[in-house]
Amino acid sequence: MDKIILSTKRVILRTWRPSDLAPMLAINANPQVMKYFPSTQNLDETQKLIDSCSSCYKKHGFTLFPVELKETSEFIGFVGLNVPGFNIPNFKSKSDIIVEIGWRLGSNHWNNGYATEAAMAVLRYAFTTLNLTEIISFTTVNNRASRRVMEKIGLHYDATSDFDHPKIALSSLLRPHVLYRKTQIEILKK
Ligand SMILES: CC(C)(COP(=O)(O)OP(=O)(O)OC[C@H]1O[C@@H](n2cnc3c(N)ncnc32)[C@H](O)[C@@H]1OP(=O)(O)O)[C@@H](O)C(=O)NCCC(=O)NCCS
Repeated sequence: MDKIILSTKRVILRTWRPSDLAPMLAINANPQVMKYFPSTQNLDETQKLIDSCSSCYKKHGFTLFPVELKETSEFIGFVGLNVPGFNIPNFKSKSDIIVEIGWRLGSNHWNNGYATEAAMAVLRYAFTTLNLTEIISFTTVNNRASRRVMEKIGLHYDATSDFDHPKIALSSLLRPHVLYRKTQIEILKK
């Protein structure tokens, strides 16, 4: 049975359920959505992604949560927290565990403010309910929409933490990454 984790004006964020596979696959298989990733994802890769989200939730109490529109109950993608599956080169974290905030929505729902609305709720949850010390986010340099969401939720760009993604081919233009961050202390000081 899935569980509602967060609720905002227009969306809910919940745990994963088996019926999320088909709509998540449609998103992962869309080249427009995956423009800033090395490739689209097939059924097998999408199932692995959902399984790894469920394991992450069991282990840490957070994950990349499915996002559902309140008005229609439509699954539109994910927004949430994750532990990166690689070491970020030369990155000095301010917390014991490195936690990133991330998002991926179906392209028919872009530019309605959904990612920002969901991510604001996730960030608050991370610092208050989960008591995490620092949240980071990173993306390939040219992913302007993702960078804009990072800015809109109040993360700040740390130019000293730019890095080349170790899991992306040396020859790929997607390899250079930017990193944004925010600490719990910054929120509490406000
Ligand atoms: C990144 C993503 C989740 C944003 O979702 P969204 O719901 O459209 O985001 P929002 O509507 O909350 O905000 C998007 C912002 O980016 C801006 N934006 C969109 N495309 C842009 C572009 N090409 N250049 C500059 N800004 C852009 C929008 O104008 C908006 O900013 P504004 O409110 O100041 O006008 C969505 O584009 C997506 O799923 N992309 C594919 C997956 C992906 O790249 N994920 C991130 C991997 S790190």
